[in-house]
Amino acid sequence: MHTVLVTGGLGFIGSHTVIALNENGYEVIIADNLANSKMEVLNRLEIITGKRFKFYNVDCCDESALRVVFEENTIDSIIHFAGLKAVGESVVMPYEYYSNNINSMLTVIKLMREYKVNNLVFSSSATVYGMSEDVPFTEESPLGICTNPYGWTKWMIEQILRDCSKAYSDLKVILLRYFNPVGAHESGLIGEDPRGIPNNLFPYISKVATGSLERLTIHGGDYDTPDGTCLRDYIHVCDLADGHVKAINYMAKLESGVDVFNLGTGKGTSVIEAVKAFEKACGHEINNVIGPRRSGDLPVCYASTDKAERLLGFKASRTIEDMCESCWNWQSKNPNGLPEDN
Ligand code: NAD
Ligand code: UFG
Repeated sequence: MHTVLVTGGLGFIGSHTVIALNENGYEVIIADNLANSKMEVLNRLEIITGKRFKFYNVDCCDESALRVVFEENTIDSIIHFAGLKAVGESVVMPYEYYSNNINSMLTVIKLMREYKVNNLVFSSSATVYGMSEDVPFTEESPLGICTNPYGWTKWMIEQILRDCSKAYSDLKVILLRYFNPVGAHESGLIGEDPRGIPNNLFPYISKVATGSLERLTIHGGDYDTPDGTCLRDYIHVCDLADGHVKAINYMAKLESGVDVFNLGTGKGTSVIEAVKAFEKACGHEINNVIGPRRSGDLPVCYASTDKAERLLGFKASRTIEDMCESCWNWQSKNPNGLPEDN
């Protein structure tokens, strides 16, 4: 049995990936410090899969605590999701972002070397392409200048991993650059559960749809796009989760070194189109107003998906309607998110 350690496995993308790994015959161990997730996710995963996953409440920056996970298990591969991810927060808390994201990665690498774990998948982001308007982004597109500390942590960790894979000949690394993950598991038992007022589009729309927020502000309606609002490559989180399984499968074919894949759909959807699709899913209007542009927003961002399709055999199959329906199913069943841990 191939065992995968999923760091950040109680988070949004991690939890969906745990299900996909389990469905595909992988043994899963989860390590998460609950910085942005709740224990209830573990219960929900048990309801969905019928399995209680082995869970460690550890901070991946804490070497001695994380060592226990390596000591007690034989790990074949690691998917490193653990990290802080709020762009705006990273601007006001740069130290916390650099410290958490980079130290957790370095600690994982250190222990991987010590315990001879050679397969690593890292959660990167399309943000590493910077402010380029040369779309679609291919894996060969130049890396850009990031506009915030969060983005730089992804950029820097990619570089750290490229350097490590050159120096450590046994190490195999796959960098996955996600575009805009949205949606939720079809059960409606798990989904994106941000604390406080959301910054991202789908969590915000969801809260307007349930009535807990009054109105969506569309950030800019005067872009050079068909309806004047920004285009993004929204990808269903369950498709994204499948992409991780394909990456772990592909690792067996990779001799050594680092490889990188975009995970997106290759299609741009505007903010207005996303709102319309959500209105159809929830059956009522989403109160919205067009406001000024948000600084740092790219007008258009979508992936070239050719490489992932050709080498990983990955192609996202779920539509924007599927994303909205699943998001609404989750949100309407859990209007206040998951219960807090006691
Ligand atoms: P999330 O916040 O829901 O999940 C991250 C998980 O990591 C949380 O459960 C959190 O508690 C945990 N965590 C954070 N720091 C930790 C630490 N030091 N030790 C142990 N656990 C820790 O975020 P997500 O949306 O599931 O994102 C997962 C990964 O994908 C992140 O690295 C994120 O940067 C990356 N990513 C996300 C998006 C997106 O839009 N959601 C886009 C591109 C990349
Ligand atoms: N938007 C609004 N109103 C809102 C929220 C968002 O109009 O209240 C718009 C944004 O202006 C943007 C689009 O909806 O045009 C998507 O915005 P998100 O904040 O949901 O997503 P981003 O594309 O800005 O950012 C995402 C991830 C980042 C990652 C980035 C690049 O959240 O982590 O993609 O990959 F860095």
